[in-house]
Amino acid sequence: MKILLTGSSGFIGSALKRLLEEKGIEVVPFDIKDNPLDDVRDFSALQSKVLGIDGIIHLAAVSRVKIAHENPLECVNTNIGGIINVLESARLLRTDNNNPWVIFGSSREVYGESAILPVNESSIRKAINIYGVSKLSGEELCKVYSENYGLKVRVLRFSNVYTGKNDHLDRVIPKFILQAFNEEDLIINGTGEEIFDFTYIDDTIQGIWCCIQEIERNNHLFDDFNLSTGIPISLKQLADTIIKKTRSKSTVEHTKPRSYDVNKFYANPSKAIKILGFLPKVTLNEGIALSIAELKRESS
Ligand SMILES: NC(=O)c1ccc[n+]([C@@H]2O[C@H](COP(=O)([O-])OP(=O)(O)OC[C@H]3O[C@@H](n4cnc5c(N)ncnc54)[C@H](O)[C@@H]3O)[C@@H](O)[C@H]2O)c1
Repeated sequence: MKILLTGSSGFIGSALKRLLEEKGIEVVPFDIKDNPLDDVRDFSALQSKVLGIDGIIHLAAVSRVKIAHENPLECVNTNIGGIINVLESARLLRTDNNNPWVIFGSSREVYGESAILPVNESSIRKAINIYGVSKLSGEELCKVYSENYGLKVRVLRFSNVYTGKNDHLDRVIPKFILQAFNEEDLIINGTGEEIFDFTYIDDTIQGIWCCIQEIERNNHLFDDFNLSTGIPISLKQLADTIIKKTRSKSTVEHTKPRSYDVNKFYANPSKAIKILGFLPKVTLNEGIALSIAELKRESS
């Protein structure tokens, strides 16, 4: 099997690339970080890489809510421009014998501030920030390409994927761990009652692998899945757990919440478990311990 992987040098993309290569899959990398010409906003650049592929996994994006909020035009151009170019490249490759598929890396952010938790795939999607709107638009484009052009597409909604040293170190789990190591205050933007559904990187990439096998096996055109754990934790509990596990003297401080942040989210992963065989294995306690160990090794 040959797969084009956009965002192949990012946090999730690089871990996924390793896993796919271990499985014997030929991965065609595509990331602007490695080659300025590998830009998902450039349709011809994508088209030049898709020949002979079985599918595209599209992870390249402006991937952070804060960065998207500060750079809305870049977010829309990359995230909406990127997915339409990916879908169109796949559509133009179609022949009677070949129907390349697309797996789109979407986000929990499409649900916005849901009134009913946990969300599932039928919950109302009502994004509240520019990043969420860009992913929601991407999902709608996926659906239209599937319904109107017969393209096989799966939407995977990731939820706060984390690890230690390979994560973005300013994301909440590695950031709290590093602050705890240094006995600095752990800063929460808000009251601490904010609820998250954290997924360890190994579980997320296993989920994507399950989805590749499912889309290869099944003929139906479109489906969407939440790749989450279904287990909520508040930011206050998270901060307390990290302080305890690192035996730190840090305390928790609060700043004003950000207007564009979703305050409460967790998602039921039953559909992904049932249809994809997705099985999140790493508990948050285990994942935090692994992340602490990685960051400790890195800083010593
Ligand atoms: N990490 C998470 O918790 C999380 C949660 C929900 C959704 N997602 C989504 O999953 C995907 C991967 O996330 P990540 O955490 O690995 O992000 P990341 O920022 O680490 O990786 C994204 C990669 O895309 C590349 N990229 C950006 N713009 C590009 C362009 N114009 N052309 C080509 N490449 C470009 C970057 O160089 C980077 O390597 C993203 O689409 C993100 O929105 C991630």
